[in-house]
Amino acid sequence: MHAPKFLGWLPAATLPCNWTTAWNVLFGLEGRAVGPGTWVLVQGTGGVSIATLQLSTAARATVVATTSTEEKMTRLEGLGAVKTVNYRSNPKGRGREARSFTPNERGFDIVVDICGNQTLSQSLEAVRTDGIALMVGKVADDADPISLSAVFMYTCIFRASLAGSRSHFRELVRYIDEKGIVPAMDDVVFELAEFKDAYRRLKDKKHFSKVVIQVAQCLDRNK
Ligand SMILES: NC(=O)c1ccc[n+]([C@@H]2O[C@H](COP(=O)([O-])OP(=O)(O)OC[C@H]3O[C@@H](n4cnc5c(N)ncnc54)[C@H](OP(=O)(O)O)[C@@H]3O)[C@@H](O)[C@H]2O)c1
Repeated sequence: MHAPKFLGWLPAATLPCNWTTAWNVLFGLEGRAVGPGTWVLVQGTGGVSIATLQLSTAARATVVATTSTEEKMTRLEGLGAVKTVNYRSNPKGRGREARSFTPNERGFDIVVDICGNQTLSQSLEAVRTDGIALMVGKVADDADPISLSAVFMYTCIFRASLAGSRSHFRELVRYIDEKGIVPAMDDVVFELAEFKDAYRRLKDKKHFSKVVIQVAQCLDRNK
């Protein structure tokens, strides 16, 4: 695949996994692509969620995001989130709190769950009837799993996905070129010798969006 024409190598390097996943989440289900009027809920400020936020706002969808710190709330709003919810201060009610921002509290058209067992019940509280609950990852621990019979209480489409196809990636690159989207990266770019620090930053959740390790000096597009 060719990188988007105007992107430097570092932001372009963030695309193959997180951004292709986000593309599949938002545009992969036929007849249910995001657009104006679509409400999307994303969790946290990791790579998948920020890619989903940036793609959604480019498509003029409305995004609400959860995160764990005030500082990250401000950064999410800077990228276009209309509301943010601190999941630490409202662990059991954050699904309903997020839902309260949607028109008539009807719930989200798309909820992207990157945490798994620990957050699935909150995601189901937030999704609208016949909305899409997306199971994408499991960053949180397995505490507090939802029972299968509780899942039946929610009338929604449950979708799981693993990254995306080559054609998803191709469509994504075309869209990024067309819209001029610049993927947000973490503030620090690590050198290869610092890879342990890079993983530590990820583990400690100090990062915002994608953590990048630069393995060599870029010859061109050195942005
Ligand atoms: N299915 C696929 O194709 C696919 C593709 C890529 C990644 N994944 C998976 O998706 C997950 C996310 O990947 P990523 O690269 O975005 O991870 P990441 O960069 O490590 O982001 C994790 C973020 O999740 C948030 N978080 C952690 N615990 C939370 C909780 N209890 N409630 C709400 N938010 C919480 C934190 O955000 P704050 O710091 O803002 O609190 C954290 O920064 C991983 O499990 C990964 O393996 C799946």
